[in-house]
Amino acid sequence: MEDLITNQTINRKSEHVDIALSELINAISKESGFNDVDFIHCATPELDLSDIDTRVTLLGRELSAPIIIAAMTGGYPRAKLINGTLAEAAEILNIGMGVGSQRAAIQNPALENTFSITRKKAPNALLIGNIGAPQLNLGFGIKEIKKTVEMINADALAIHLNPLQEAVQPEGDTNFSNILEKISEICLKVDFVKIVAKETGAGISMEVGKKLEECGVSAIDIGGAGGTSFSAVEKYRAKMQKNIVFEKIGEKFWDWGIPTAQSTVEVAASTSNVEIISTGGIRSGIDVAKAIALGADATGIAYPLLKPAYGGDVGTAIKIIEEYIRELRTTMFLIGVKNIEELKKASLLITGNLAERLRLRNIDPKRYVNRKC
Ligand SMILES: Cc1cc2nc3c(=O)[nH]c(=O)nc-3n(C[C@H](O)[C@H](O)[C@H](O)COP(=O)(O)O)c2cc1C
Repeated sequence: MEDLITNQTINRKSEHVDIALSELINAISKESGFNDVDFIHCATPELDLSDIDTRVTLLGRELSAPIIIAAMTGGYPRAKLINGTLAEAAEILNIGMGVGSQRAAIQNPALENTFSITRKKAPNALLIGNIGAPQLNLGFGIKEIKKTVEMINADALAIHLNPLQEAVQPEGDTNFSNILEKISEICLKVDFVKIVAKETGAGISMEVGKKLEECGVSAIDIGGAGGTSFSAVEKYRAKMQKNIVFEKIGEKFWDWGIPTAQSTVEVAASTSNVEIISTGGIRSGIDVAKAIALGADATGIAYPLLKPAYGGDVGTAIKIIEEYIRELRTTMFLIGVKNIEELKKASLLITGNLAERLRLRNIDPKRYVNRKC
C-alpha cells in the first residue's frame, strides 16, 4: 500500500512538470490584478540608478532582491536536475528558493537526493522546505517535520494549502478538517524552523490571513490566482487518465481564486506580524515592485523558471531572474525610491476590476494614493 502511494506521488510529480511544459496552464479569464495597479511616474527621481538598493531581509535571511524561486518539484529522478539548477541560480544571485512537496522522500528515502541537492548547490541561500497541509491529517507529525527540514537544512518550512488542487484531483487528499488547529500545534511545537503558510494559486483572503497569523506562522505566501492554474494542470492529468468527470471539473475551476494583487492587499490589511510573499503570475520586475508596494515583503516566481531548469540551464535561469531585478531597479528609479522600505510606501493608482474588488471587501483603494513622490 505504502509503495503504491509512493509510486502514485512520483508519477504525479513528473506529470505536473511535463504538463506545465507542454500545455497552456496559465489562468485565462482571471488576471493577477497587477494590470490595474500603476505607479506615479517621477520625472525628477533625485537619485542615481546605480545607487538603488534592492536588498531585503526575509525569514531572517538577507536577499539581494525580494525574490524567491517558488516551490515546484522534487521526488522523482528528473527533479534532481531541476532543483539543482534552480538552487545554483539562487546561490549565485543570493535570492531564496522553495522546493516542491517533500512527501515522496519522507515515504521513500531513496528520493531524498532530489531535494538535498539544493543545499549542496546552494550552501548559503535561503531554502524553504515544503509539505502539504493534508499530510497533517494523515499522520505527519513533528518527527516527519524534523526529517523534512533536515533533508535540505531548511531555513523555513512551507505548509502548502491547496484545497483546490486536491478537490479537482481524482486521488486528492481532501481532508482539511481542523487544519488551522493542526498548523497552530505545529507552530507551537516546532522551534527549530520558521513556518510559512503557502497557497498554490487560489489566494489567501484577509480572514484566512488573520487566522494563520493567529496560528503563529512566520510568513504567508499568498499564492494568488492569475498565474499557474493547478486546476488546469489537473484537468490535463485527468484527460491523460481518460477521467472525463475530473477533466470537466478541472476545466470549470481553471480560473478559481483570489487574484494575486487582491490577496496581497487583503493579507497585508488583516495582519501585522507576518511576512508576506506574493506569488502567482509575477511576470516582470514591475510586478515585483507593484506587489511590494501593495504590501508584500517578497515575491515568488515559479513557471517562468521551469523550462530552463528542466534543461539544466543555469545561465538562462540566472538571465531571467536578472531581467526581473533590472526591471525592479528601473521601476524604483522611475518613481524615485532608493530602497525597498521606500518602495513599500510608494503611491499607487488602483483602478478597474481590482479597485472594485477591494471596495467590495471594504478596503479603500485610495489608501494607496498620495503616499510619496
Ligand atoms: C510544476 C509546478 C509544480 C508545483 N508544485 C508545488 C508544490 O509541490 N508545492 C507548492 O507549495 N507549490 C507548488 N507549485 C506552485 C508554485 O509554488 C506557485 O505558487 C505557482 O506556480 C504560482 O506561481 P507562478 O504563476 O509563477 O507559476 C508548483 C508549480 C508548478 C508550476
